[in-house]
Amino acid sequence: MTQPDSSSQRPPLRAKSIVILDFGGQYAHLIGRRVRECGAYSEILPPETPLAALRDAAGIILSGGPQSVYDTDSPQADPGILELGIPILGLCYGLHWIAQTLGGEVKPGKEKEYGHTRITTVHGGGALLQDCGGECVVWMSHGDEAVRLPEGFSPIATSDNCAHAAFSDEDRKIFALQFHPEVAHSQHGSDVLKRFVALTDHAPWSVENYARHVGEQIIAEIGDRRVFMLVSGGVDSTVAFTLLNETIGSHRVQGLLIDTGLMRKDEVRMIRNAFDVLGIDNLHVVDASEEFFRNLAGITEPEEKRRIIGETFLAVQKRESDAMGLRLEEGWIMGQGTIYPDTIETGGTKHAATIKTHHNRVEAVQKMIEQGLVIEPLKELYKDEVRRLGEELGLPHALVWRHPFPGPGLGVRILCATEPFDPSFDATGVPVPHCALPVRSVGVQGDGRTYRHALALFADTPLQVTEEYRRLATKIPNAIPAFNRVLQCVSHPTAQPFVFTPGTVTPERALLLQEADNIVDEEMRRAELYEHIWQFPVVLLPFGTREGGQSIVLRPIQSQEAMTANAVALPAEVLDPMVKRLRALPGIDLVFLDLTNKPPATIEWE
Ligand code: XMP
Repeated sequence: MTQPDSSSQRPPLRAKSIVILDFGGQYAHLIGRRVRECGAYSEILPPETPLAALRDAAGIILSGGPQSVYDTDSPQADPGILELGIPILGLCYGLHWIAQTLGGEVKPGKEKEYGHTRITTVHGGGALLQDCGGECVVWMSHGDEAVRLPEGFSPIATSDNCAHAAFSDEDRKIFALQFHPEVAHSQHGSDVLKRFVALTDHAPWSVENYARHVGEQIIAEIGDRRVFMLVSGGVDSTVAFTLLNETIGSHRVQGLLIDTGLMRKDEVRMIRNAFDVLGIDNLHVVDASEEFFRNLAGITEPEEKRRIIGETFLAVQKRESDAMGLRLEEGWIMGQGTIYPDTIETGGTKHAATIKTHHNRVEAVQKMIEQGLVIEPLKELYKDEVRRLGEELGLPHALVWRHPFPGPGLGVRILCATEPFDPSFDATGVPVPHCALPVRSVGVQGDGRTYRHALALFADTPLQVTEEYRRLATKIPNAIPAFNRVLQCVSHPTAQPFVFTPGTVTPERALLLQEADNIVDEEMRRAELYEHIWQFPVVLLPFGTREGGQSIVLRPIQSQEAMTANAVALPAEVLDPMVKRLRALPGIDLVFLDLTNKPPATIEWE
């Protein structure tokens, strides 16, 4: 699919922002978030942004990127930014770009540096690295290096493999770092960014301040019209709806929540209660679950399920909004909970390798945006900022800090199959007791999507996840192409013959998974681990140890933005009560813990 070039649709730069020019690195948004944590407003723009549009910036950060700066088609910024007289910071590719543009030389390094690397500061580390204490460990990921510095620049740090791990022209306030101060693995990384931000003449930024000022902006944008908004139960739409109500009054806002039957247990009640407390009584809730289950009957293919859920959703939405008399041309506009990365991901960052069209930015919606028929009061905020704003507005902490939940809801976590896949392939060489599952799941390997088997490993002490098993979870999908996922059975110590029972999306299976998901939620909160885990899908599989039995997969992960993820090996004392409660649910036999990172497995199973 071709992406619209959204640079023409971007609002003009806010005066005194710190701009991040995105050369396609996976960390541009992380830099943006970190800058805001330092109290300055940040914006992400494509590197080819014209110089004139950058004149009001307080400072510019040049991100990393996957290419080599000496390649003919490598992304370039306007060299004029180096003459603006504002502080400039180049990171990784950004360092190479500064070196090459100002007359230095960049070449492939002798060795690639990847991961934790020790650097030693030179000249006290200059203005940026003075908190590093002479030596510190930082996160590197590069193949190229600056072998010759431009005139006027001196090194401020070196590493074993890289003589110019950081350099600067302190007078011109131009800095270049080979490492990534934005990632948590870099010691003193946030001190470095704080020092840079402090050198700029930036406009102050905080969510609290934003909450105070955004009202005027919303009122000006809406005029005397009214706003219709779909509330999904997710954090973004809930906060956006609350903000609109608080700003223009509930008599000018109408919310619609479609209960698909595939939401989490008590989700609708929780949202209603939160709105009740705030006096928001304009949310119309429609229970359309029967229609969803009817349309999904007998369907097993994951993408087909997604399509049906999406289409049913649109049909219900249209019917209900027509019934409520909400016509856009008659004084109504549409509210959306779009947040900053959603805006940027669609077409904004031309050089990022992974671009997807967000559902808030499909063509029909894009047209409405151009006609001024959409208001998106959160479009400048990052997720953490949306959560903090939600709390400022009086929404409960537990609601605004909920884990991300996919749009199709439990629909993509109820694994469906009408017949078992034949698991009779070779897993010889796996040195521990194991058994292939009779179902397949989605993964990402190499260039694309895979749909392969999962291998379950068994251990004498099922609740203990050892280093060996975690290593096997990485090794097996690399070595044996039939598998893209590796699990540990946490309910049984020895391999069980799996008994398959056909299963699709039914109200009974949805209720069972809601209960299981709720148990996991409660146990994670009880262990005070809930907010340390980024997301925790709980998946229902159509087989067990006896006819009609089913299994549960626990999939706790750590992630920054869901592009990559690490499986979390929960401690035995957390798993123990969780597994006991799950097995007490009628029909649940086996419980597995998913040990696979992304890649090779996706976060969700479908
Ligand atoms: P995967 O499974 O691709 O998921 O590693 C990455 C993130 O996206 C969420 N996800 C979805 N969200 N509609 C959504 O709104 C979907 O169809 C969908 N599929 C996956 C997933 O929960 C994870 O956070």
